[in-house]
Amino acid sequence: MNNVKIAILGLGNIGQGVWKILNTNSEEILKRSGYKIEVAKILVRDKNKARAVDVPEGLITTNPDDIFNDDSIRIVVELMGGVHPAKDYMIKAIRNKKHVVTANKLAIATEGEEIFKAADEEGVMLYYEASVAGGIPVIHGINESLTANKIQQVMGIINGTTNYILTKMAHEGMDFDSALYEAQQKGYAEADPTSDVDGYDAVYKLAILANLAFGTRVDVNSIYREGIRNIKQVDIQYAKEFGYTIKLLAIVKEIDGALELRVHPTMIPSRHPLANVNDSFNAIFIKGNAVGDLMLYGRGAGDLPTGSAVVGDIISILRNNIDLSSSNASRNNHWSMDVNNIEY
Ligand code: NAP
Ligand code: HSE
Repeated sequence: MNNVKIAILGLGNIGQGVWKILNTNSEEILKRSGYKIEVAKILVRDKNKARAVDVPEGLITTNPDDIFNDDSIRIVVELMGGVHPAKDYMIKAIRNKKHVVTANKLAIATEGEEIFKAADEEGVMLYYEASVAGGIPVIHGINESLTANKIQQVMGIINGTTNYILTKMAHEGMDFDSALYEAQQKGYAEADPTSDVDGYDAVYKLAILANLAFGTRVDVNSIYREGIRNIKQVDIQYAKEFGYTIKLLAIVKEIDGALELRVHPTMIPSRHPLANVNDSFNAIFIKGNAVGDLMLYGRGAGDLPTGSAVVGDIISILRNNIDLSSSNASRNNHWSMDVNNIEY
């Protein structure tokens, strides 16, 4: 049996979910990866904060150098959020020859080019399945299973918090603020929920999906964005009367060689499958020129669904051989450096 040491940056909603999965499913993980995973260090801001998981005190640190300077740590899992210092820590880990797993859609969408360049230069793997749609394997799906296709469209509900709010408003008559509070309590919302409510989170995820599906780096500022802050109970009720459901959709499609990208609330016929994606669930329609139409559906936020994607990425790294050479590592980092002409 092989042992591998990893470190986790962040022990919030997702960090705790990852800790639970690593402990609960340790036998399955060993069987599937061939490794016994040892969490050697966990970085937090506040050592004294109460946590829902019981972590041995000696593992917790507030000094990131405890991780970067420890050569025995082979994989760093970034679950802090934000651009700084998350991006800087990812790059530092990479420069110290550590593979990286992240759930950070903001850093990948806005700073991905620099992070992936560093990973390619150092010959390490960088995986980010959890950055889009929580537990749904959409990144793996587009990168691997659908790689034979020319993708024509990706469209769906890719923010769990806003979908939770809209569901509670529509089905229970709940007001916006109470529904947002519940989403925060359940661990779905970002540390700053403005990102969810005003559509930024969906924009970051759409930029990542567009990059993968169309091989085109997208500037997040060029994506049309409208959130759900102005949706009132009366809008939802009127829509219902006319047979529609309001959902926050993210859409990227190719029209005459140009990409159209947008995030906004949309009236969807209530019988449409997307209208029936509720709570924190996400759903993504993909249209490929060989596969036709397909839909991925599942939990798009929360500790265990997101942790499932994070731990899956750790296992992928272990299966790909953590000692691999730089040319192999580059093949596993599917980030496009091509910038085509895009019209919006
Ligand atoms: P969170 O609950 O706010 O947790 C963040 C953790 O990072 C906390 O433990 C915090 O430490 C630590 N941290 C933050 N800044 C730090 C710093 N400068 N130095 C050291 N530690 C720091 O966030 P989360 O919901 O787990 O989300 C984490 C990441 O996953 C984000 O990128 C988010 O976008 C992504 N994500 C979240 C979800 C979801 O459902 N929530 C789903 C998919 C992806 P303290 O605890 O000491 O404050
Ligand atoms: N805040 C995000 C959401 C977490 O609600 O979808 C999952 O990325």
